Formats: sequence, structure tokens, C-alpha cells
Amino acid sequence: MSVDQEALVSTEGAGLYQSVGAGHHTCWYPVGLSSDLAAGQVRGIDLCDGRIVLFRGEDGVARAMLPYCAHMGADLSVGDVVGNDIRCAFHHWQYGGDGRCTKIATGDRIPGAAVVRTLPIEEHDGLLWVWWGDTPAYEVPSFSSFEGEWAVRTFEVPLTAAVHVEPWVFAANVMDFQHLKSLHNVDVGNPDVEWNDWGAAMKWSFSRPEVGEINWDIELFGTNSVRSVQPQADGTIIGHIATTVPMGEQGTKVFVVVVTNDLANAETILEHQAQMHTNIANEDMDVLSTIRVGKANFTSSDKKLVQYMRYQRDYPKATMDELERGATPVAMRT
Ligand code: FES
Ligand SMILES: [Fe+2]
Repeated sequence: MSVDQEALVSTEGAGLYQSVGAGHHTCWYPVGLSSDLAAGQVRGIDLCDGRIVLFRGEDGVARAMLPYCAHMGADLSVGDVVGNDIRCAFHHWQYGGDGRCTKIATGDRIPGAAVVRTLPIEEHDGLLWVWWGDTPAYEVPSFSSFEGEWAVRTFEVPLTAAVHVEPWVFAANVMDFQHLKSLHNVDVGNPDVEWNDWGAAMKWSFSRPEVGEINWDIELFGTNSVRSVQPQADGTIIGHIATTVPMGEQGTKVFVVVVTNDLANAETILEHQAQMHTNIANEDMDVLSTIRVGKANFTSSDKKLVQYMRYQRDYPKATMDELERGATPVAMRT
């Protein structure tokens, strides 16, 4: 995929503002809180146009795979964890973290095709991230590479309404400078945007009542995650990640991570940050819970938004069926 920045100046609407169609963008999706998956625990989750099962082995490592048992299709999320394997409830076939059947309760020979498709999974800042695709194309947005000690608060944002729009519609908010002003009372001007194959970067300066003056280095990852880093006058840093995940019938969920290395004031800072991000997300809800995506007429103030629309239109996507049939090797967290 490539983004031709020069060509990305357009007021065209048709074709740029449409549902992804079958499947979902190949992104890192936040599928839940680390704290909701204890060692020995199994969880089934509706993700994109399918389902996955998550389990944490007794070694503490989280694993993700498509949920349907290779024997007769039982959903492995009603199974249990045995050592570092997951065991199907129906006839006790057992699968390792690489998706291969390791044991059949009767002792029968294990068929070569007794394999369940695994998905790349990583854990950072209290979130479980699953890559919807084969090999991850970019790094999970996180603060893991930041040195020193950090205070972190990670939570699912309580939304005032169920939202069924695709995650890329949420993420479009960061390139929608018109709405920042009209809906959020945030004026970031018209910042320069640097695009790359799997995201974008820019700088925002604005103020919010919860926290005062803000100067963000802001990055878009894929079509569902935004990370900000704000250096403070005293040399400490405040950061956040806002990210969304499509969970089938339940709709699109929003998770937020707020961090700071100002440990002395961490509790107050994280509380204010969490409040602000919860408020901002909910300011969008009346619109996002009722919006119709499909037709648009963009104007000159939407220039960066149109760039984003082209970026998301060209972004790779996958259906669960394609993932299940895929022959490419999957990167495993070991
Ligand atoms: S369906 Fe899973 S063991 Fe038979
Ligand atoms: Fe918004």
C-alpha cells in the first residue's frame, strides 16, 4: 500500500466515504484488558466479522486463535485451559499456542489437519492486542519503549450509546479539524500531516477545561488507534492511546490508556486525563450512534480528512473466512 501525498488533494466524495464492505482493516485491535484474562482463563470474543478465543496458559502467556475446534466445530471458548493448551469441551481435543492439536482424549491418532488458525497477540500497557491478519505490519501503539517508571491507567470507555460504525469512522475524527472545533470546542488550526504506509503523524496545540493547555505529538496507527505524547514544562511526559475495536453485535468499543512518568502527581494527572478522554469520546456519541456513512461532499477545510479517506479506502482488509483459509505463517508471541 502506498499513499501519494501530492495526489491527496480533492473535494471528491463518492467512493471515499464508504463502508469497508466484507471484512475489516488489518489492524492491531484491542480485544480486552489484560486483567480480564487471568492465567488458566478462556474468553470468547466477537471480533470483526467473526469470533476469536483468547486464553492464558499457566505460563502467563496470552494466546489468540479462531475458536472453532477442528474436530466438529465446537466453540473453544466453552473449553478450558490445560497447562498451556486449550481443551475443547465437546470431546477433549487439546490445542497448543501454535494452533496444532496436541492430544485427543481417546488416544486416537491426531489428523494432520487438526489445526486451528492462530492470530498474532501482544500485551502492552494493560491491553491485549490481536492483529487481524497474517504478519503484523506495524508495531502495537504503546509506551513500552519509553524508559523509566510510568504510571498507567487502562480502561474501556463507558459510552452513552451503542455505536455500530466501523473503527475507521472513529479514527477519521483526528483528521476532521472542522468537527474538533464545532463538536469538541477544540481549535487545532490546520496542522501539517505526515503520512506513512500504516499511519500518520502531526502536532496539535489546544486547550480543554479538564487539563488546560495541551501540546500533543499525535500519531495515527492503522485505522483505529491514536497515540499522543505531551512533554511537560518540568521534563515529565503525559501520554494517551485511544483505540477502537469492532465487536460484532455489541458494536464498536473504545479503550483508552493514559500514562505519565510524573509519579509524584500521577493519581491527579491520570484522573484528569481519563476524564477528558471519556468526555471527548462521549461528545462524539450522539453523532456516531446515528450517522449514515456512504455519501459525502467534502470542502476545502476537509483536505486532511480527504487524505484520510483515501488512505482508509486503500487500506488492506481481511474477512474471517480469508484468515481461516490463509496459508501464510503467523507470527507467534513466544
Ligand atoms: S468438537 Fe472439539 S473435541 Fe470434538
Ligand atoms: Fe470527535
